[in-house]
Amino acid sequence: MRNFPSNLDAKLKKREQEDALRSLPTNGNLVDFSSNDYLGFATNDTLYANTFQLLLNKGISHNGATGSRLISGNHNLYKDLEVDLPAFFKSDSALVFNSGYDANLGFFSAVPQRGDIILFDELIHASIRDGILLSNAKNYKFKHNSLADLEEKLSQAISKEFTGEVYIVTESIFSMDGDSPDIDALLKFTKKKGCHLVVDEAHAIGVFGTQGEGLVQQNKAYKEVFARIVTFGKAMGCHGAAVLGSERLKVYLINFSHSFIYTTGLPPHSVATIMAAFRFVTSNQGIEARKLLLGNIRHFKNKAKDLKLQTIFLPSDSAIQCCLIPGNENVKKVAAKLQDKGFNVKAILSPTVPEGEERLRFCLHAQNSKEEIGLVLQILSGCLK
Ligand SMILES: Cc1ncc(COP(=O)(O)O)c(C=O)c1O
Repeated sequence: MRNFPSNLDAKLKKREQEDALRSLPTNGNLVDFSSNDYLGFATNDTLYANTFQLLLNKGISHNGATGSRLISGNHNLYKDLEVDLPAFFKSDSALVFNSGYDANLGFFSAVPQRGDIILFDELIHASIRDGILLSNAKNYKFKHNSLADLEEKLSQAISKEFTGEVYIVTESIFSMDGDSPDIDALLKFTKKKGCHLVVDEAHAIGVFGTQGEGLVQQNKAYKEVFARIVTFGKAMGCHGAAVLGSERLKVYLINFSHSFIYTTGLPPHSVATIMAAFRFVTSNQGIEARKLLLGNIRHFKNKAKDLKLQTIFLPSDSAIQCCLIPGNENVKKVAAKLQDKGFNVKAILSPTVPEGEERLRFCLHAQNSKEEIGLVLQILSGCLK
């Protein structure tokens, strides 16, 4: 067998030297401040039972999809889900992908064409960046949540002869900061300039909106958003994602999006779980879970303020609360102390975030108790003294 390639070995050694080598964690019995299971749906017994019942009611006992959705894998539950989702999100259509990663990869690699331009927020998720890398369109980043910089970058990117399309890309809740753009202002801007706005709502679904529909739908002009990417592996507690947009966009993606076409569809059980989760989120239990989560976000912020920690936390009203502790070694040490005390808080290292902006990321949940929140912040405060 050939030796491990020396160039790859050098990359791993560099990661080791920078204290940034990733490894798979073992999940002990720690208090969850790290998962995306914001509403506790992933471990909810009623939701599990509802899914099973839904499969029984439909007489479905198959384990796998058996093929691509374009060949043999488009089982009937997909049809039902793609009726439910547009009704819930008030979109014209929904196309379900196997994951949020697949949806972003499939959308951005297929939609913007050669001669088009993509302008994206500098903190955009890796799945969008990877999709953009596969696109033939030119791409430019703008400063995080800065409409002024977006305007400047747009005017620099467009020449007098430009006849292409412009796609502007953002997230409604940023995954590593927990903050949001001014969607209202972005919508007005994209409309005025004749651009297409694309919003990844991964961390807003289930959490914001009257029923958990996300942040875009709160805005009356949401129909003017070209596409929304919604994912089900976070607050919805299951797996998969959808691109919401026009019927024509759906037809286009079915024809040209490789991560949709060249992969086996989700198994019926996964699709049934998504359907059950969307019914559950509007049930009394779902509404109660969202109330608890929003209460815990407020409680966390108040406690951080009481402990005079608010200046090192990034501004955020979402379930993602980040405390800056620069330096991989420093932030890893504090995370290890919190983990020793029984709290699963993750350190986010560079290069995942820029050097000097390493951080602890607290993911808050409906199922966290007020006592757990108070205690973890008290321990953090002690670590920083
Ligand atoms: C903003 C954002 N978009 C997309 C994804 C990918 O979603 P999925 O986990 O369903 O692949 C993530 C996941 O971390 C995310 O944070």
